[in-house]
This record gives sequence, C-alpha cells and structure tokens, in this order.
Amino acid sequence: MDKFIDRKNTSSVKWDGMKAVFGKDDLLPMWVADMDFRPPEPVLEAMKHRLGHGIFGYTIVGECTENAIVSWIKKRHRWEIKPAWLMYSPGVVPSIGTAIQAFTEPGDKVLLQSPVYTPFFNMIENNMREVVNSPLQMKNGRYEIDFNDFEEKLKSGVKLFLLCSPHNPGGRVWTKDELVTMAELCRKYGVIIASDEIHADLVAPPFKHIPIGSLEPSYADFTLTFMAPSKTFNLAGLQSSFMVVPNEDMRKKISGIHMKEGFFTLNTFGTIAMEAAYLHGEQWLDDVLAYIRSNIEFVKTELAANLPELEVIEPEGSYLIWIDCSKTGLEDKELREKLLEKGKLAVNFGDAYGPGGENFIRLNIACHRSIVEEGLKRLKQAFS
Ligand SMILES: Cc1ncc(COP(=O)(O)O)c(C=O)c1O
Repeated sequence: MDKFIDRKNTSSVKWDGMKAVFGKDDLLPMWVADMDFRPPEPVLEAMKHRLGHGIFGYTIVGECTENAIVSWIKKRHRWEIKPAWLMYSPGVVPSIGTAIQAFTEPGDKVLLQSPVYTPFFNMIENNMREVVNSPLQMKNGRYEIDFNDFEEKLKSGVKLFLLCSPHNPGGRVWTKDELVTMAELCRKYGVIIASDEIHADLVAPPFKHIPIGSLEPSYADFTLTFMAPSKTFNLAGLQSSFMVVPNEDMRKKISGIHMKEGFFTLNTFGTIAMEAAYLHGEQWLDDVLAYIRSNIEFVKTELAANLPELEVIEPEGSYLIWIDCSKTGLEDKELREKLLEKGKLAVNFGDAYGPGGENFIRLNIACHRSIVEEGLKRLKQAFS
C-alpha cells in the first residue's frame, strides 16, 4: 500500500464522482469510505484466473466460499457460525432494506443511534417506516450510549434496531458490556437487532470487535448480522456481501423479500474475490491495519500541532476520522464553504449523519501517506 495509485478516470465514486456531490471536481477526495489500496494479490490472481475462463454465467456461492467465510469469522471474531446461516446480498445497505421489509410494516418504528451512517435514515424513511433516534452521548471525547433513553425508545413500540458496530462515523468499537446491555434490552422489549458489522475486520488491538450475535446462543433468535469483504479488502465495487441469520424463521422471511425483489445470487467476480480474500488476505489486512494506524497517529499529531481547534474523536476501528470542528465557531454552511472553496478538500460533512453530527467532518485516511499530507495542508489552508 505504500505506493500511490492514480484512481482518476476509473469511474471511482470517490475520485470521479465529486462533481455530482460537491458541484466541483478540483478537490482532493478524502470522503467516501473506500481505500486507495489494491486488494491482496491472491484476490487479483483468483479474479484473473476466472477471467481467463471467459464465461460468466449465473454463479452459485459454493461450499468453498461458504467455508472460507465460516473460517474467517471463527478465526478473526471467535464466532462459530454454520454455512446454513449465511444469506447473500449485493451490499449491506440493500441488506438493511431487506431487513426493514422483512421485519417491519410501513409506519413501524425503527431505532438508530445518531450521528450514524446516513443510509440508516434513508433506508428507514424510503421504506415508509418511522425513525426513532436514541442519540449517542459524547463523554470525555468518546461516544457512549444513554441506556435510559435507549430503553425508553425501545418501550415506545420499536420493532427493529439498526445497530452500527463498529460505529460509523463515531469510531466506537462497542464493548462486551455495552453489547450485552443493548441485546438484553432488545430481548426484553421483543425488538429484532439488525447489526451492520461491515467495519468489523478493521479493528486493531487494543480494541476487539465482538459480533453481537456471538455473545450468547439465545441472541441468535433475534439478531441478524451484516458483514462483507468490501470494506475489509477494498472490494466495494464488486457488490458482494452476506448476512448471518441463525434463526430459520427469520431466514424464511428474508427469502420472502428476496423473492419479491428477484434477487437470488451474487456477482461472479464478487464471489471469487470474497473467497480468495478470506482464504489468503489475512497478512495483507494486518499490514493495512498498521498503515491505517500510522496515518491516524500522523493526523492526530499534525492537528494537535497546527490546528488544535479541530478535535479528533479517537477512531477505535476503521479508517474514518471523525473530527469535531465546533471550536472553529463556524456554522455547517461556512465549514462546507471553507473546506470546498478554500481548502479544495472533499470530506463528508457531519450534518448528514443526523442529530449530533453538526460541526463535524469525517476524513477518510485509507490512502497513501502523501494524500494524507496534502489533505492536512488543505485543512490548514481552509482554516487559515
Ligand atoms: C456502516 C456502513 N454500512 C454500510 C456501508 C455500505 O455498504 P454496502 O456498500 O455494502 O452497501 C458503509 C459504507 O461506508 C458503512 O460505513
């Protein structure tokens, strides 16, 4: 990863899609959550090999791929799942939509914890369900859950809880105690948990991701977990993800929605890449995690020295740095103008993540160090 790769003119959302989103494209892209790194070499080799065959008809997700997923989850997350629990989806956001349709009716309440990944709101609202928010509380520079509020919201008739674990953009890797408390409260009020764990693999010691469904066998009855190799190995364009659904009745309901959608299998290359990544990508991932960590430390040091009014919320997982800009005294609109017009830097703006996201920006540092350096220069320029 220590090699800059030009991604312009590859139809990359991050590099080529800025005009549509920001109205201009003379920006340095440190927004959308994908990495500027090539995936593990064995993934590319497996894809080339498959390409050489030359026929790309409908593809099944075979036993080898399922075993690769099962082994990966056992090894990296100490969770023994069964191949029969796996269901597939082109992405985690589509899985969220499927879960909303399978387990709620129009008008039902769906709980989330803001500030949170924008499509959580969109998927609830686009499916005509009601967003119920139990906002995270910032305490000493770290987000925490207000469990009294969480319980009050569950009590109000919530049907489904969309958990973001690890949390994007808040950077939290939830502890065992926090996960158990959330799960027990959901059990008490009969609420199904749909846990978006797409960032699960991007966690390094001392933090440890724990899949909520793994904590206790009985949680299997009311949890579904969404995972993917897309963030982990930078394969988002291959549109392949999976759900872990231990409860058979829940699997039937999800199948029912898939039948309505006409969805039945994954993309050929997505399947090939997923299998190769889980079988052979571990060392690559550990190297990437170390590179990401050094980029995070670099950003923290530079901001502390040069822009102390910007406060980094420690990312316990993933490669997205959530930065509190409220001490600059700028409103969101001004913040946007300064960054886009003066700094020429594309970041995600916090107000898109719901209540509590105002005055924050989200910076993606899964890129070559030279881009991070340039990004920091531009941040300084924006606030100069
Ligand atoms: C928490 C979270 N869920 C889901 C996604 C996107 O998932 P997919 O591309 O599989 O739909 C992202 C991408 O940034 C994310 O951060």
